[in-house]
Order: sequence, then C-alpha cells, then structure tokens
Amino acid sequence: MNILALIGSYRKQGNTARIVELIAARMQVLAAQHDTPLEFETLFLGDLELRPCRGCRACFDHGEAACPLHDDVPRLRAKMGAADALLLASPVYVDDVSGLIKIWMDRLAYLCHRPALAGKAAYLLATVAGSATSHTLRTMSAGVLTWGYHLVGQTGLKMGALATAEDLPRYQPAVERVAQRLFRAVAQQQALRPSFYSLLAFRIQQLAWQHESPGSVDYAYWQAQGWLAPRCTFYLPHRANPVKVALARALGAALYPFVV
Ligand SMILES: Cc1cc2nc3c(=O)[nH]c(=O)nc-3n(C[C@H](O)[C@H](O)[C@H](O)COP(=O)(O)O)c2cc1C
Repeated sequence: MNILALIGSYRKQGNTARIVELIAARMQVLAAQHDTPLEFETLFLGDLELRPCRGCRACFDHGEAACPLHDDVPRLRAKMGAADALLLASPVYVDDVSGLIKIWMDRLAYLCHRPALAGKAAYLLATVAGSATSHTLRTMSAGVLTWGYHLVGQTGLKMGALATAEDLPRYQPAVERVAQRLFRAVAQQQALRPSFYSLLAFRIQQLAWQHESPGSVDYAYWQAQGWLAPRCTFYLPHRANPVKVALARALGAALYPFVV
C-alpha cells in the first residue's frame, strides 16, 4: 500500500504536519497488524517549486506536456499516479485552502477534463484555529472529485494557532478515525464501488465529451480510454450496484442540458 500525503503549510512543526505525522504512525501500526507493506510519503508543497497557473490553457488545449511552466508539478503528478491514495491536508487561510494548495489545484486543473486518477482513494484534512472548515473541505473536494479520486472521508480539526505537544492527545480519536478509514478504503479497494455522485459526474462528463469536437485533446483522451463507449458506465471496471448505476445515468442525462 502506497499513500501520499500532501501538506499545504510551510510550518514543518505546525498543526497540519503534526496531525499527518500521527496519522502516518497509526497507519504503520495498522499495516503491521494486517501484514501489509506500507509506504507513506509526506511532501510539503512549500518545499517544491510550484509556479502559479498563467491561464494560457495549453494543458487543456494541447495536453499537459505543453505547459510553459517548468517546475516540480510533473514530478508531483507522477507521485500522485504511483500512490494508491492521497491524504490532502491544508490549514484554513481566511476560510479557505492555503495558497499552496490552491496553486497545486490550479496547475492540475486539466485533470478535471482528463480524470486520470480514477481508482485512487482520497482523504481530506483541514486544520483551523477556531472557525469552520466546511468551505475549505469543499474547495478541496471539488478538485479531487473531478479528477476521479474516490473521496473516502474528510475531517476538520480546530487546533488554535499552534497546538502544543500536551494538546495533541486530544486529537487521537480523530487520527484513529482517519487512519482506519484510509487504510480500509485502500485495502478493500473501495474506489471500485463509486458513489452515486461519482457515477453521475462520469455520466455528465461522458455526454459532454461525446458532443465535443473529435479533434480535441480531451476527446482523444476519452476515446483512447474507452470512456465514450455507450456501455461504459465509469472510468474503470467497478462493483457498484446496477440499480444505483442506472439511476445515476438517468439523472445525469436529465441534468446534462442544464449543467454544460
Ligand atoms: C494567513 C492565515 C489565515 C488564517 N485564517 C484563519 C481563519 O480564517 N480561521 C481560523 O480559525 N484560523 C485561521 N488561521 C489559523 C490556521 O488555520 C490554523 O492555525 C492552522 O491549524 C494552521 O496550520 P499549520 O500550523 O499547519 O500551518 C489562519 C492562519 C494564517 C497564517
């Protein structure tokens, strides 16, 4: 099992990093108990060169290799592709994700058109001093869901400006919950049981690309994956309940004219 944790804070000893460290430690224990080899890699986005998107649309129109910014994004994208799951962790900055997380999301926006990460699990974590985390979690989920990730859970933790070592045991039940949920999701390949929302989103995208000009990069990508075939119901062979699939497809077809 291979988990990648991305931290959207510069603070190496900050709230977010400390919670991710506790989750990693707890997952190592679970992996050992289940005789499962686990590689847990934590990256601080602040350690990478991530230049802000310029909005040139080269990635959308000509493919991501055409991006004029040459930095660490392709290397990071490769790591995301090699991992089974993503633990995405952001501090709340002014009721939303940190700038680091937003830059990372914008640079990978082409994945909304070509959701190459389908089949992987994602867990979202937001830490905050005292206000709500719902808006921050919603921003993160809007990204990862449209990139194909299977969202297995999300947690917001109120931790003050900077929790002390004495404060940390208070967060252990939440740490336990995240570790259990993420471990189980990957071990049981829960991504192969897509949610109603994921099936619905697939159907709407499928209809959109079926109407797209066949010369486009996105059309070619969807065609090459076999996702435009009338019988294709998801990005990958799945185990979703057929009734749920049928309902999601019917609703997707009904909503399509209003959302595209
Ligand atoms: C620029 C900035 C903006 C912040 N905005 C909020 C906020 O809107 N609401 C809140 O309760 N805390 C806010 N905080 C506090 C952080 O969300 C909180 O301390 C977080 O856990 C810090 O995580 P870190 O230690 O991993 O960087 C803000 C902190 C900074 C530096």
